[in-house]
Amino acid sequence: MFTIVAVFVGSCLIPPALGAPLALGNSSTCCGMLDNAFLRQGKVVYPASASYGALNTYWAQSSQEMPTCIFSPSNTQDVSTAVKLFTKNSCAFAIRSGGHSYNPGFSSIYDGVLMSLGKMNKVTYSTTSKCAKVQSGARWRNVYQAVEEYNVTVIGGQNADVGVGGYLLGGGISFLSNEYGWGTDNVKNFEIVLANGDIVNANQQSNTALFRALKGGSSNFGIVTEFTLNTVKVNAFTGTVGSYPDSSNDALMEAIFKYSTGDVDVDPKSHVIYLASFNETLEGQNLLFASYSDFMKLEDPPKVIKPFLDGSIPSGQLAIPQKNGTLGAMGDILNAFQSAGKRTTRQTMSIIPDLSLLKKLREVWVGVSKKYKDVAGFESEFAFQPIANKWIAASKSKGGNSMGIESPIFVLWVQSFWSAAADDGRMGGLETELITQLQDTAKAAGKLVSYEYLNYGGSKQDIISHYGTESVYNMVQVKKKYDPQNVFGTLVPGGFKIPGF
Ligand SMILES: Cc1cc2nc3c(=O)[nH]c(=O)nc-3n(C[C@H](O)[C@H](O)[C@H](O)COP(=O)(O)OP(=O)(O)OC[C@H]3O[C@@H](n4cnc5c(N)ncnc54)[C@H](O)[C@@H]3O)c2cc1C
Ligand SMILES: *[C@@H]1O[C@H](CO)[C@@H](O)[C@H](O)[C@H]1NC(C)=O
Ligand SMILES: *[C@@H]1O[C@H](CO)[C@@H](O)[C@H](O)[C@H]1NC(C)=O
Ligand SMILES: *[C@@H]1O[C@H](CO)[C@@H](O)[C@H](O)[C@H]1NC(C)=O
Ligand SMILES: *[C@@H]1O[C@H](CO)[C@@H](O)[C@H](O)[C@H]1NC(C)=O
Repeated sequence: MFTIVAVFVGSCLIPPALGAPLALGNSSTCCGMLDNAFLRQGKVVYPASASYGALNTYWAQSSQEMPTCIFSPSNTQDVSTAVKLFTKNSCAFAIRSGGHSYNPGFSSIYDGVLMSLGKMNKVTYSTTSKCAKVQSGARWRNVYQAVEEYNVTVIGGQNADVGVGGYLLGGGISFLSNEYGWGTDNVKNFEIVLANGDIVNANQQSNTALFRALKGGSSNFGIVTEFTLNTVKVNAFTGTVGSYPDSSNDALMEAIFKYSTGDVDVDPKSHVIYLASFNETLEGQNLLFASYSDFMKLEDPPKVIKPFLDGSIPSGQLAIPQKNGTLGAMGDILNAFQSAGKRTTRQTMSIIPDLSLLKKLREVWVGVSKKYKDVAGFESEFAFQPIANKWIAASKSKGGNSMGIESPIFVLWVQSFWSAAADDGRMGGLETELITQLQDTAKAAGKLVSYEYLNYGGSKQDIISHYGTESVYNMVQVKKKYDPQNVFGTLVPGGFKIPGF
């Protein structure tokens, strides 16, 4: 007697996966070759150079690494030349636009070349097409200023210091999104450098699948050098930040929930976000960011914003009274509010709107986070943002994106801050514990949504796998066509990858 253990046919040889790891080239050699290719004219700088430190500054101190060299291209042709060299010699590299990533190693690299697009920050506006052409290394401030002259604005960052490139390739939440959709929905054309160095345009006429995949696809397909953007006319822009005591928690959350599940679609010129925070002394703040993309009298605001400003929620006060301004002016105010230079980590998840779940999640956040309050410089934030019907409809009407959102959700995020690198390990523990408990709580309530917002994602989150089967399938096809050797997976260690790459 014998037993057949297994029956199989065909070969047992496992074929090499697409994107099998290449042997990486020596980074010092790569820097030297790059420097030579650019005739040693100063486009490549080393740690000993005077300009290295300024080029290597990040919004989050914890996102800073020490690249072997930093390369600053002047134009798209320079980017193409460098990518060809990287591909040919298997050089590891990172791509940086505004350096606002919350994650170490995403727009930074320890052993490799950092391509920093900061010098490619040109913004031009065409009075005939009414489009703005924006190079990837610009900050939203540059864009707002350049187009304001023509009395138009763009669907860009809430904080004016954020970089154009990372923001648009990850989605892009704007104060104008309830009317116009994600920032990335308003891209008319991407100029992109592919792995083989080809410079191509992706838009509604050519490279259409790539065009869609890039809207949420981050750095997986190439280096985007320039975006052509829709512009919109906005008479005025008014924003304010209200601050509420803990005793107002429930009333505030109820009012914001009502707004987020109804009023937001009644008046999509409005935009309201909730943010709670506390620090090492456990002193907390409950903040509300309310803005309106037209004239607004703070003493007599539009109907949907009134409940937050008329005193009906106990002890509401305005932390930032704002006069009629522009999107850029509000973005600068927010920038002053969100101070740079700390160590930080942020995670995200999404839920089906539900008031009692929100209150429960808030409690979970307080409970887990306060165990870490003895960490030097500790601060913790909990926030949410509705993605409602008109926003989703605006995305669809512009051709859609790769994020796979079909119906209203709340995007949540939690963020922690601390001051010393010695606490990185402990805070990594908080990161995992907190998001796991929050997700479990939402799952238990049957309200956890798969989708996760890339630009708010933590490095341990596998964001793109949460875009949905159809979207991921399409991105995989685009990946196979435009980056068949998986250069942007294997040579670029950082960033959120497409599953399997
Ligand atoms: C203070 C602050 C405020 C923020 N406010 C908002 C907000 O209002 N709305 C919102 O939606 N998000 C906001 N964010 C999140 C922000 O959108 C992301 O951090 C975004 O990635 C920043 O873009 P960046 O160009 O500055 O990032 P970088 O750190 O330079 O890059 C981020 C990622 O994108 C990749 N990348 C960058 N440029 C390119 C390119 N040209 N081609 C290919 N890949 C590229 C990088 O490799 C990296 O993986 C904010 C972040 C901070 C820190
Ligand atoms: C890379 O090359 C440099 C200079 O030749 C050398 O000092 C260094 O040890 C090499 N690094 C590795 C990891 O081989
Ligand atoms: C912008 O608006 C201002 C004020 O209404 C007006 O004076 C100016 O001419 C406008 N500029 C353009 C380019 O339309
Ligand atoms: C903690 O937060 C409160 C309220 O915002 C603030 O007044 C206080 O200065 C903060 N303390 C520390 C140590 O940061
Ligand atoms: C903003 O401008 C409008 C229209 O000119 C005016 O009615 C309103 O009072 C202004 N608001 C503020 C806060 O200045």
